[in-house]
Amino acid sequence: MTKKKLIAGNWKMNGSLAANEALVKALVAGVGTPACAIAVCVPAPYLAQVQTLVAGSPIELGAQDVSARAQGAFTGEQSAAMLKEFGVHYAIVGHSERRQYHGETDEVVAAKTAAALANGITPIVCVGETLAQREAGQTEEIVKRQLAAVIHVNGHCISEIVVAYEPVWAIGTGKTATPEQAQAVHAVLRAQLHHAASDHAAGIRILYGGSMNAANAAELLAQADIDGGLIGGASLKAPDFLQIIAAAS
Ligand code: 13P
Repeated sequence: MTKKKLIAGNWKMNGSLAANEALVKALVAGVGTPACAIAVCVPAPYLAQVQTLVAGSPIELGAQDVSARAQGAFTGEQSAAMLKEFGVHYAIVGHSERRQYHGETDEVVAAKTAAALANGITPIVCVGETLAQREAGQTEEIVKRQLAAVIHVNGHCISEIVVAYEPVWAIGTGKTATPEQAQAVHAVLRAQLHHAASDHAAGIRILYGGSMNAANAAELLAQADIDGGLIGGASLKAPDFLQIIAAAS
Protein backbone atom coordinates (compact mmCIF):
# COMPACT_ATOMS: atom_id res chain seq x y z
CA MET A 1 0.00 0.00 0.00
CA THR A 2 1.47 3.32 -0.98
CA LYS A 3 -0.63 5.72 1.00
CA LYS A 4 1.39 8.04 3.22
CA LYS A 5 0.48 8.30 6.86
CA LEU A 6 -1.13 11.55 8.02
CA ILE A 7 -0.08 13.27 11.22
CA ALA A 8 -2.60 15.98 12.10
CA GLY A 9 -2.40 18.30 15.08
CA ASN A 10 -5.63 19.49 16.68
CA TRP A 11 -4.74 22.59 18.63
CA LYS A 12 -8.28 22.80 20.06
CA MET A 13 -8.89 26.20 21.73
CA ASN A 14 -5.25 26.97 22.37
CA GLY A 15 -2.81 29.46 20.95
CA SER A 16 -2.11 33.15 20.47
CA LEU A 17 -0.53 35.08 17.64
CA ALA A 18 2.83 34.90 19.39
CA ALA A 19 2.60 31.25 20.46
CA ASN A 20 1.39 30.12 17.01
CA GLU A 21 4.24 31.90 15.29
CA ALA A 22 6.84 30.30 17.55
CA LEU A 23 5.25 26.84 17.21
CA VAL A 24 4.81 26.85 13.43
CA LYS A 25 8.22 28.38 12.78
CA ALA A 26 9.80 25.61 14.84
CA LEU A 27 7.79 22.98 12.96
CA VAL A 28 8.71 24.39 9.55
CA ALA A 29 12.37 24.62 10.55
CA GLY A 30 12.46 21.07 11.88
CA VAL A 31 10.21 19.13 9.53
CA GLY A 32 12.66 18.52 6.67
CA THR A 33 11.26 16.40 3.85
CA PRO A 34 8.88 14.07 5.67
CA ALA A 35 7.57 10.82 4.26
CA CYS A 36 4.15 11.45 5.82
CA ALA A 37 1.50 14.10 5.25
CA ILE A 38 1.19 16.73 7.98
CA ALA A 39 -1.54 19.12 9.03
CA VAL A 40 -2.27 21.58 11.81
CA CYS A 41 -5.94 22.21 12.62
CA VAL A 42 -6.04 25.64 14.19
CA PRO A 43 -8.70 27.85 15.79
CA ALA A 44 -10.66 29.75 13.11
CA PRO A 45 -9.34 33.25 13.97
CA TYR A 46 -5.80 32.06 13.27
CA LEU A 47 -6.39 30.44 9.88
CA ALA A 48 -5.02 33.42 7.95
CA GLN A 49 -1.99 33.71 10.20
CA VAL A 50 -1.11 30.03 9.98
CA GLN A 51 -1.85 29.92 6.24
CA THR A 52 0.99 32.41 5.82
CA LEU A 53 3.28 30.63 8.26
CA VAL A 54 3.00 27.20 6.59
CA ALA A 55 3.19 28.51 3.00
CA GLY A 56 5.86 26.67 1.02
CA SER A 57 6.28 23.99 3.70
CA PRO A 58 4.94 20.41 3.70
CA ILE A 59 2.52 21.37 6.49
CA GLU A 60 -1.09 21.74 5.41
CA LEU A 61 -3.76 23.83 7.05
CA GLY A 62 -6.80 22.41 8.78
CA ALA A 63 -9.90 23.75 10.53
CA GLN A 64 -11.50 22.20 13.61
CA ASP A 65 -15.08 22.34 12.41
CA VAL A 66 -17.12 23.37 9.37
CA SER A 67 -20.73 24.40 8.98
CA ALA A 68 -23.15 22.04 7.27
CA ARG A 69 -24.76 25.10 5.66
CA ALA A 70 -23.58 27.02 2.64
CA GLN A 71 -24.38 30.55 3.84
CA GLY A 72 -26.88 32.71 5.64
CA ALA A 73 -28.22 33.35 9.12
CA PHE A 74 -26.05 30.92 11.10
CA THR A 75 -24.32 33.15 13.62
CA GLY A 76 -20.91 31.94 14.65
CA GLU A 77 -20.45 29.36 11.90
CA GLN A 78 -17.92 29.16 9.09
CA SER A 79 -18.82 27.67 5.73
CA ALA A 80 -16.58 25.29 3.85
CA ALA A 81 -16.27 27.85 1.04
CA MET A 82 -14.97 30.42 3.54
CA LEU A 83 -12.43 27.96 4.89
CA LYS A 84 -11.36 27.13 1.36
CA GLU A 85 -10.54 30.80 0.73
CA PHE A 86 -7.89 30.52 3.45
CA GLY A 87 -6.22 27.47 1.95
CA VAL A 88 -7.83 25.00 4.33
CA HIS A 89 -7.11 21.44 3.21
CA TYR A 90 -8.65 19.47 6.09
CA ALA A 91 -11.56 20.03 8.47
CA ILE A 92 -12.17 17.97 11.58
CA VAL A 93 -15.84 17.01 11.83
CA GLY A 94 -17.68 15.33 14.66
CA HIS A 95 -14.94 15.62 17.25
CA SER A 96 -16.23 14.17 20.52
CA GLU A 97 -15.95 17.62 22.11
CA ARG A 98 -18.36 18.97 19.48
CA ARG A 99 -20.66 16.00 19.97
CA GLN A 100 -20.53 16.39 23.76
CA TYR A 101 -20.62 20.17 24.26
CA HIS A 102 -22.48 21.28 21.14
CA GLY A 103 -24.95 18.46 20.72
CA GLU A 104 -23.72 17.36 17.31
CA THR A 105 -25.63 14.33 16.17
CA ASP A 106 -24.52 11.69 13.69
CA GLU A 107 -26.77 13.39 11.13
CA VAL A 108 -25.12 16.78 11.63
CA VAL A 109 -21.69 15.19 11.34
CA ALA A 110 -22.74 13.52 8.09
CA ALA A 111 -24.02 16.84 6.70
CA LYS A 112 -20.80 18.63 7.69
CA THR A 113 -18.83 15.90 5.96
CA ALA A 114 -20.87 16.48 2.80
CA ALA A 115 -20.32 20.25 2.97
CA ALA A 116 -16.57 19.82 3.28
CA LEU A 117 -16.40 17.33 0.41
CA ALA A 118 -18.52 19.57 -1.84
CA ASN A 119 -15.93 22.31 -1.38
CA GLY A 120 -12.81 20.25 -1.87
CA ILE A 121 -11.92 20.05 1.81
CA THR A 122 -10.97 16.67 3.22
CA PRO A 123 -13.09 15.95 6.29
CA ILE A 124 -11.43 14.18 9.20
CA VAL A 125 -14.46 12.36 10.59
CA CYS A 126 -14.10 11.49 14.27
CA VAL A 127 -15.73 8.49 15.88
CA GLY A 128 -15.22 6.93 19.29
CA GLU A 129 -16.86 5.44 22.34
CA THR A 130 -17.04 6.70 25.92
CA LEU A 131 -15.64 4.70 28.81
CA ALA A 132 -19.15 3.65 29.87
CA GLN A 133 -19.87 2.42 26.35
CA ARG A 134 -16.59 0.48 26.23
CA GLU A 135 -17.27 -1.11 29.59
CA ALA A 136 -20.76 -2.05 28.41
CA GLY A 137 -19.22 -3.83 25.42
CA GLN A 138 -20.72 -1.33 22.96
CA THR A 139 -17.55 -0.02 21.31
CA GLU A 140 -18.07 -1.68 17.96
CA GLU A 141 -21.75 -0.80 17.79
CA ILE A 142 -21.08 2.87 18.61
CA VAL A 143 -18.27 3.51 16.13
CA LYS A 144 -20.11 1.64 13.40
CA ARG A 145 -23.26 3.69 13.97
CA GLN A 146 -21.28 6.93 13.85
CA LEU A 147 -19.52 5.98 10.62
CA ALA A 148 -22.67 4.51 9.07
CA ALA A 149 -24.40 7.89 9.23
CA VAL A 150 -21.56 9.46 7.27
CA ILE A 151 -21.54 6.63 4.71
CA HIS A 152 -25.31 6.83 4.33
CA VAL A 153 -25.24 10.52 3.35
CA ASN A 154 -22.00 10.56 1.40
CA GLY A 155 -22.10 7.28 -0.52
CA HIS A 156 -19.10 6.53 -2.67
CA CYS A 157 -17.63 9.98 -1.86
CA ILE A 158 -16.41 8.50 1.41
CA SER A 159 -13.37 7.32 -0.50
CA GLU A 160 -12.25 10.96 -0.05
CA ILE A 161 -12.62 11.16 3.73
CA VAL A 162 -10.20 10.57 6.56
CA VAL A 163 -11.56 8.71 9.59
CA ALA A 164 -10.21 9.29 13.09
CA TYR A 165 -10.86 6.78 15.84
CA GLU A 166 -10.72 8.71 19.08
CA PRO A 167 -11.86 6.77 22.14
CA VAL A 168 -13.35 9.48 24.35
CA TRP A 169 -11.76 7.99 27.47
CA ALA A 170 -8.30 8.42 25.94
CA ILE A 171 -8.66 12.09 24.97
CA GLY A 172 -6.60 14.42 27.12
CA THR A 173 -6.41 11.81 29.87
CA GLY A 174 -2.94 10.40 29.29
CA LYS A 175 -4.70 7.03 28.97
CA THR A 176 -3.91 5.74 25.48
CA ALA A 177 -5.64 2.81 23.89
CA THR A 178 -3.16 -0.03 23.62
CA PRO A 179 -1.99 -0.66 20.05
CA GLU A 180 -4.03 -3.87 20.11
CA GLN A 181 -7.20 -2.12 21.33
CA ALA A 182 -6.82 0.57 18.69
CA GLN A 183 -6.02 -1.88 15.89
CA ALA A 184 -9.07 -3.97 16.75
CA VAL A 185 -11.39 -0.98 16.28
CA HIS A 186 -9.53 0.22 13.19
CA ALA A 187 -10.04 -3.21 11.62
CA VAL A 188 -13.78 -2.95 12.30
CA LEU A 189 -13.88 0.49 10.65
CA ARG A 190 -11.80 -0.76 7.71
CA ALA A 191 -14.22 -3.60 7.13
CA GLN A 192 -17.15 -1.19 7.24
CA LEU A 193 -15.44 1.10 4.72
CA HIS A 194 -14.70 -1.90 2.55
CA HIS A 195 -18.34 -2.79 2.48
CA ALA A 196 -19.24 0.78 1.40
CA ALA A 197 -16.40 1.59 -0.96
CA SER A 198 -14.82 -1.73 -1.79
CA ASP A 199 -12.07 -0.71 -4.17
CA HIS A 200 -11.12 2.37 -2.21
CA ALA A 201 -11.31 1.20 1.39
CA ALA A 202 -7.66 0.28 1.60
CA GLY A 203 -6.71 3.81 0.55
CA ILE A 204 -8.82 5.58 3.19
CA ARG A 205 -6.73 6.77 6.10
CA ILE A 206 -7.90 5.80 9.57
CA LEU A 207 -6.11 7.88 12.20
CA TYR A 208 -5.84 7.13 15.89
CA GLY A 209 -6.34 9.94 18.40
CA GLY A 210 -6.26 10.03 22.18
CA SER A 211 -3.14 10.80 24.19
CA MET A 212 -0.84 9.95 21.29
CA ASN A 213 2.59 11.31 22.12
CA ALA A 214 6.25 11.12 21.20
CA ALA A 215 6.74 8.03 23.36
CA ASN A 216 3.83 5.88 22.18
CA ALA A 217 3.40 7.00 18.54
CA ALA A 218 5.73 4.49 16.89
CA GLU A 219 4.00 1.49 18.42
CA LEU A 220 0.52 2.74 17.49
CA LEU A 221 1.57 3.72 13.98
CA ALA A 222 3.07 0.25 13.41
CA GLN A 223 -0.40 -1.34 13.50
CA ALA A 224 -1.74 -2.59 10.18
CA ASP A 225 -4.80 -0.33 10.04
CA ILE A 226 -3.47 2.77 11.82
CA ASP A 227 -2.68 5.25 9.07
CA GLY A 228 -1.72 8.23 11.16
CA GLY A 229 -2.62 10.23 14.21
CA LEU A 230 -4.86 13.07 15.33
CA ILE A 231 -2.90 14.68 18.10
CA GLY A 232 -4.12 17.17 20.69
CA GLY A 233 -1.82 18.12 23.55
CA ALA A 234 1.41 16.87 22.00
CA SER A 235 0.79 18.92 18.84
CA LEU A 236 1.28 22.12 20.84
CA LYS A 237 4.93 21.29 21.56
CA ALA A 238 7.14 21.45 18.48
CA PRO A 239 9.72 18.84 19.58
CA ASP A 240 6.98 16.35 20.48
CA PHE A 241 4.99 16.89 17.28
CA LEU A 242 8.19 16.59 15.22
CA GLN A 243 9.02 13.30 16.97
CA ILE A 244 5.58 11.94 16.09
CA ILE A 245 6.12 13.03 12.47
CA ALA A 246 9.46 11.21 12.51
CA ALA A 247 7.78 8.10 13.87
CA ALA A 248 5.38 8.16 10.90
CA SER A 249 8.07 8.69 8.29
P1 13P B 1 -5.04 14.50 23.12
O1 13P B 1 -3.92 14.11 22.19
O2 13P B 1 -4.74 15.77 23.88
O3 13P B 1 -5.48 13.37 23.99
O4 13P B 1 -6.29 14.88 22.19
C1 13P B 1 -6.68 13.98 21.22
C2 13P B 1 -7.72 14.65 20.38
O5 13P B 1 -8.83 14.88 20.82
C3 13P B 1 -7.33 15.07 19.03
O6 13P B 1 -8.44 15.48 18.30
